Amino acid sequence: MNPYDKTEMKFEKNILCIGAGYVGGPTMAMIAHKCLQYKVTVVDIDPERIAQWDSDGLPIYEPGLAEVVKAARGRNLFFSTEIERGIKEAEIIFVSVNTPTKTFGAGAGMAADLQYWEKTARQICQCAESPKIIIEKSTLPVRTALAMERILTSNDNAVHFDVLSNPEFLAEGTAINDLENPDRVLIGSRLTESGLKARDELVEIYANWVPRDRIITSDTWSSELSKLAANAFLAQRISSINSISALCEKTDASISEVAKAVGMDSRVGSEFLNASVGFGGSCFSKDILNLVYLCRSYGLNEVADYWESVVQINEYQKRRFVLNMMTAMFNTLVGKRICLFGFAFKANTGDTRESPAIFIARRLIEEKAELVITDPKALDNARIDLNGIDSNVSYIEDPYKAAAGCHAIAIVTEWDLYRDLDFEKIYRSMIKPAFIFDGRNIADHKKLFEMGFNVFPIGKPALTHF
Ligand code: NAD
Ligand code: UGA
Repeated sequence: MNPYDKTEMKFEKNILCIGAGYVGGPTMAMIAHKCLQYKVTVVDIDPERIAQWDSDGLPIYEPGLAEVVKAARGRNLFFSTEIERGIKEAEIIFVSVNTPTKTFGAGAGMAADLQYWEKTARQICQCAESPKIIIEKSTLPVRTALAMERILTSNDNAVHFDVLSNPEFLAEGTAINDLENPDRVLIGSRLTESGLKARDELVEIYANWVPRDRIITSDTWSSELSKLAANAFLAQRISSINSISALCEKTDASISEVAKAVGMDSRVGSEFLNASVGFGGSCFSKDILNLVYLCRSYGLNEVADYWESVVQINEYQKRRFVLNMMTAMFNTLVGKRICLFGFAFKANTGDTRESPAIFIARRLIEEKAELVITDPKALDNARIDLNGIDSNVSYIEDPYKAAAGCHAIAIVTEWDLYRDLDFEKIYRSMIKPAFIFDGRNIADHKKLFEMGFNVFPIGKPALTHF
């Protein structure tokens, strides 16, 4: 539905979001859901994405999202490709475009690629005819708001802009709950009269459903840096537990016991200590590398090295997983049929960006294994990720059919459905000796061993029949 047809309707505010991705779509759907008095329009340069948001086949899978979108769409939530018109009409503009790692030139492989962000800033500058609040929703290097302000104030028509930082902390797979009940909402602003007024306006939007004590405010730079720091701290926990998992495998200790004992210290906390095949997703590596690049550019080499090691341990964990598979399977994988249970970077999403599964699949293909990939939501993305190297790869949604005739299973994504499979049936259909490599520690290892599997968990002694 065209958002601009609804001119007869009166809304208290016109909110625009530029960038209809994993963040822009769900966050705006939640604002529209909670605030009937606002008109919320989401625009994107990608017409196919906008068409999907306007259809029954949303561009992303996120539990609970379809219901929220369906209820608000056409009422006070609209999707459009008319960016300029959206800018003109809106009083408040969220910018949620992608900020991937730069792949070229200075800072390649480390720095954030700010081209999409800057293009948006220039477009806002060109089209705006009235004062606006511009909100950084994308994750950005510290002090990017300054660059935004400089671009926006370079316009001739003297339109006034306030730039706020309002980083997003949602995690995929739980985005709707995270948006509805956030641990905190962070809003950074200039501490000037105008900046504080703009900040208060954004506070009022969130206060429609978020308790006020969870809406915290700061200066702009602290807000920008808090987002990078939060992701770095989260990823650091995973690399910490994964590094200890390697030691557990050498010493017959169990990573589950260690994580439990360490996490029960209330100063440490028990969340986010699941040893795994390594973290994936579009943000952890990207944001840490961005942090590392920033530190180096300020001459803080020791700080940069410290955070870079979090990414290095993650790379090591992925490499280690494949090497363990090879060692266990008699040092050759040539011609062996290996089934990957899961391709998404975590459960409850179809997103495969930076998924450890991509690295594992590539390495297994290099070792000349034959792959069968199964995943309830991510097979389309898996096909794209392995495009050009998948002549020996099949994609099968049914995990029973996928595992049949395989030498080994590698559990890469912790989908609940893999916990409840009939592994007796799977074992009977596989080539013997049958192996299972549990990259998420979700299976009942003892039971699998008793069925006849050779079982290789993460950070626990292997259970083998040899
Ligand atoms: P995404 O790639 O899914 O979506 C970005 C969208 O912006 C794309 O649809 C793209 O077409 C659009 N776009 C790019 N340039 C544009 C332009 N000039 N005009 C209009 N549209 C444009 O990315 P995402 O996962 O939604 O992430 C967006 C930002 O949010 C990133 O900075 C990311 O670090 C941050 N973030 C992501 C998550 C997450 O879970 N994915 C969580 C928190 C923060
Ligand atoms: C992460 C953060 O959790 C969000 O707060 C943040 O907003 C977001 O990044 C972002 O900036 O993009 P997300 O990447 O969607 O969210 O998902 P997480 O739940 O953090 O998982 C990231 C990766 O770590 C996944 O591959 C997951 O399987 C892995 N992980 C997570 C572990 O290996 N062990 C754990 O204990 C937890």
